[in-house]
Amino acid sequence: MTNNKTRKELEFALRERSSEHEDLIKSLQNCSRRDFLKVSAKFATMAAALGVIQPHGFQLVNVAHAADSPGAAPEVAFRFAYMSDTHLYARGMDHRFARAAIKAVDDLNALDPQPDFVLFGGDLAQLGRADELDLGYQIIKEIKAPVRMMVGEHDWYLDLGEKWREMFGEDHYSFDHKGVHFVVLNSVVEKDFWTAKGYSPEQRMAIVSGLDDNRQSPFEVGEEQRDWLGQNLAKVDKGTPLVIFSHSPLYKLYKPWNFWTDDAEEVQALLKPFATVSVIHGHTHQLLTNRIGNIHFHGMLSTAWPWPYAPEGLPEYTVQMDRPDPFNQFDGCGDGSVAVRGNGRIDKNYNFWAQSPRTVSAEQLDSGVLKSSGGYKGASY
Ligand SMILES: [Fe+2]
Ligand SMILES: [Fe+2]
Repeated sequence: MTNNKTRKELEFALRERSSEHEDLIKSLQNCSRRDFLKVSAKFATMAAALGVIQPHGFQLVNVAHAADSPGAAPEVAFRFAYMSDTHLYARGMDHRFARAAIKAVDDLNALDPQPDFVLFGGDLAQLGRADELDLGYQIIKEIKAPVRMMVGEHDWYLDLGEKWREMFGEDHYSFDHKGVHFVVLNSVVEKDFWTAKGYSPEQRMAIVSGLDDNRQSPFEVGEEQRDWLGQNLAKVDKGTPLVIFSHSPLYKLYKPWNFWTDDAEEVQALLKPFATVSVIHGHTHQLLTNRIGNIHFHGMLSTAWPWPYAPEGLPEYTVQMDRPDPFNQFDGCGDGSVAVRGNGRIDKNYNFWAQSPRTVSAEQLDSGVLKSSGGYKGASY
């Protein structure tokens, strides 16, 4: 499979679908509240007739309410969805991780209206093998919406990204969508710890994927990419909302598990001049919320397994998800969507497969209510 064209094809699809969504949004914005509710009711009736359950994140009626209420959060301008951390082994479509990934694809394809695009949050493969990445491609190519890819360490450290880049293109890039500047980073760059020690590619991959393995270097964005990011952002107006996708959280949470980006402060400094910044990351496999100054951080769920919360350092903005049942494969796992409001602030929807859905809103983070009502209790794990 030659996938050099994949990125271009996906971007083409994104441009086409963006104009469709813009037309839809315009027509919804221009209709009266009464007409809007009629349209919403029609959607609900159609969904019921088709046996489609409308995902929790897509509450069209709330948009109408927001427009009607002075002082309320601005309307939702658009939505995108995500799936992340599938960790596929090359054991066919019947392996439980493949079935979980297919379940996420089914969720995404059932969203009505469809998201403008889907972010894949990294760790498509488990051991970085070409046959694992190929299996992943076979699964995610069924996603109807355009897909934006991000790399994780499990995709990278067998061949240092050779196969992944051949399939999906550059590991860092940016794009603009409906007034928001998006940047996708490779945040799992490590300094060369393997050459001097003579580690094989398989040993290198095993070391990087382990927890509490201090033979590896910490993740970082790295100087080369930071320079690129600085130049990229120099062209963007400081009032333009930014959404950054990184695999590891762009802050320092817990180093022994690599819930950590070593040059986080330097990357944050590049983001600081912008009024509205959201970072969406994978890797931690859990509901995770943080705020550092103007930057909001949200973790994505994994489809494969949930990690426990780190024994220390959990941000006080995180209201913990329920402790998953280890005998239920899908508990603690899921996918989700992100609503981008007209002011560029985002609300993060967690579509848990075996727990109640949760939304973490920009308003909650801005007001600090999460900090006072939740935060790290240290008792769940
Ligand atoms: Fe992962
Ligand atoms: Fe990861």
